[in-house]
Amino acid sequence: MAVNLCGRSFLKLLDFSTSEIRYLIDLSKQFKNLKLCGTPHRYLEGKNIVLLFEKTSTRTRCSFEVAGRDLGMGVTYLDPGSSQMGKKESIADTARVLGRLYDGIEYRGFSQEIVEEMAQYAGVPVWNGLTDEFHPTQMIADLLTVEEKFGRLRGINFTYFGDARNNMGNSLMVACAKMGLNFTACAPSDLFPDADLVDVCKEIAAQNGCSIALTEDASRGAQNADVVYTDIWLSMGEPDEMWERRINLLKGYQVNKGIMGLASPHAIFMHCLPSFHDDNTVIGKSIREKFGIAEMEVTNDVFESQQSVVFDEAENRMHTIKAIMYATLK
Ligand code: CP
Ligand code: NVA
Repeated sequence: MAVNLCGRSFLKLLDFSTSEIRYLIDLSKQFKNLKLCGTPHRYLEGKNIVLLFEKTSTRTRCSFEVAGRDLGMGVTYLDPGSSQMGKKESIADTARVLGRLYDGIEYRGFSQEIVEEMAQYAGVPVWNGLTDEFHPTQMIADLLTVEEKFGRLRGINFTYFGDARNNMGNSLMVACAKMGLNFTACAPSDLFPDADLVDVCKEIAAQNGCSIALTEDASRGAQNADVVYTDIWLSMGEPDEMWERRINLLKGYQVNKGIMGLASPHAIFMHCLPSFHDDNTVIGKSIREKFGIAEMEVTNDVFESQQSVVFDEAENRMHTIKAIMYATLK
C-alpha cells in the first residue's frame, strides 16, 4: 500500500511503521539530489510554518528554516522568551492559535507530553524538534547517513556510548529496532534506557530480524560495531551541578582511539552534535578548569578522523527535515 503521511504529526518514531520511515529516508534522498543539482523545489509555496524553541539550537532551527524556505514557505521563529506559551497561555490555547495561522508547527522543549498535547490541539502537523525523551527528526538524518555510508541499514551493528536514557539513546534504540539494525546501548546500568522502552523495542526488533542489547562493558560494546555513536554527557535542561556525577559515571565510556580500534575496520563515528571534543567552548573551558579534562564523550582525534561522518550527518538534518515537512504538508 502506498505511504501517505499527509496531515500526520511527527512526534516520535514509535508512531511510524518501518515502511513509513523507509518512505521518509527515500524522499530525503530525492530532496538531497534536487538541492545538490540546484533544481528549485518550491513545492509548498504559499504555506507558512512556525518554529517554537524552548531550548537552544543550531542544526534543528537552521535546518527547518532553510528547508522551509527551499520549499517556498514563510517561516516564523519564536525563541524561548518571546511567546506567551506556558507563562500566560496554556499549551492547548497556544496550539489552537498557531494552528489557525500556520500550516505546520515545530516544537523543541522539555517533556514529550507537551509536544503530544500540542499535536492534539493544533489541527495542523506538529514536528518534534527534540524533547527530553525523543529527537525523531535527528533519526531520519542518522538513518540516511548510515545508509549512505554502508549502502544498507539491515544487519548493521550500531553501538551507542554514553547516556543511554536520554533523548538520543531512546530514539536511536527505536530507530534501529524499526529499521533492522542491531542496537547495543553501552552505558553504566544507572543510565540504561527505561526497561519498558527496552521491552517495546525488543518486540519491534524481533519482528524486524534484529537485536537490542545493553552492556556496561565498553570493550564488548565496541567489538564488531559498524557505527560507533555518542552524545553529550549532560543534556539541555539538566542542571550544571550534575556534571561531576555524569563525568564520573561516563568517563569509562568515552569514544577514543582504543574504542574505535575494537570496532569493525570500516566503522564510522557519529554524533548528533554539539560535541565536547575539545575545550574551545565556554562550557568545555569551565569543565577543564573544574575537572581537568579537555575532551569528554569523544576525543578530538576520533572526532577529526576519517571515520567521523558528523558533518555529513549535520547536513542531512536539512534534507530529512525537508522530507518530513513535505510528506506531512503536501
Ligand atoms: N543535533 C541537534 O539537534 O543540534 P541542535 O541542538 O543544534 O539543533
Ligand atoms: N541529548 C542532547 C541532544 C542534543 C541534540 C540534548 O538534549 O541536549
